Amino acid sequence: MNKLLMHPAAKPLVFVLSLLPFAWLVYGAFTDGLGANPAEHLIRSTGDWTLRFICIVLAVTPLRVIAKANALARFRRMLGLFAYFYVVVHLLSYSLFDMGFDIPEIAKDIAKRPFILVGFTAFVLLTPLAATSFNRAIKALGAKRWQALHRLVYVIAGLGLLHFFWMRAGKNDFAEVFVYAAIVAVLLGWRVWNFANKKRAQQQPRPAPVARAQRSA
Ligand code: HEM
Repeated sequence: MNKLLMHPAAKPLVFVLSLLPFAWLVYGAFTDGLGANPAEHLIRSTGDWTLRFICIVLAVTPLRVIAKANALARFRRMLGLFAYFYVVVHLLSYSLFDMGFDIPEIAKDIAKRPFILVGFTAFVLLTPLAATSFNRAIKALGAKRWQALHRLVYVIAGLGLLHFFWMRAGKNDFAEVFVYAAIVAVLLGWRVWNFANKKRAQQQPRPAPVARAQRSA
């Protein structure tokens, strides 16, 4: 598994696969393939892909540990940047097609509609994570501070879900929201379980050196 993930073609392949939803939307926009309401389709699809990439990023560590595939870690930065790419396209689509790029109107809408405010907060929080995803930023911040900052991804996932839930509340249609919420709950639950397991293992008394030597003899 690790050998496959370390293949020189693996990263370009993940890059192309991550770009496919965007390419599909661009293709649809130029071929009249986005349905009766292309603007709504664009805003919703890019919102969906932002949430999907956040889930994919959250899945990297559990998969890496469970499948003993350490090489998966090399894709995390790219996948995180794709979450940011899709939220920027989502924000731009909303700003252009819903609001005609009228900045004062956009500011008013953010303040007026709570679900937009929650989405915007998630976007604001995601920005420093994207900006500090490079090696130089990790060095400048120091590993501990960088890790603490990047734990914001859990808050962002929660805000993304709340944004989605709130948006669907008007239509009383929560099925998809619950599927994403279940995925995020499993991914975060695994982290809590893994952390508790590690703590328990650290607290267990280590066997005395003699007993260890006898065991290995
Ligand atoms: C991490 C940040 C964000 C995530 C994860 C996210 C995710 C989503 C999702 C999943 C949807 C629903 C798509 C569907 O119905 O299938 C959505 C819709 C929407 N989002 Fe976001 N979003 C985020 C940020 C934003 C921001 C910054 C704005 C604008 C300031 C925004 C504005 C909207 C709008 C206008 C809709 C469509 C509402 C409608 O069609 O009635 N979102 N978003």
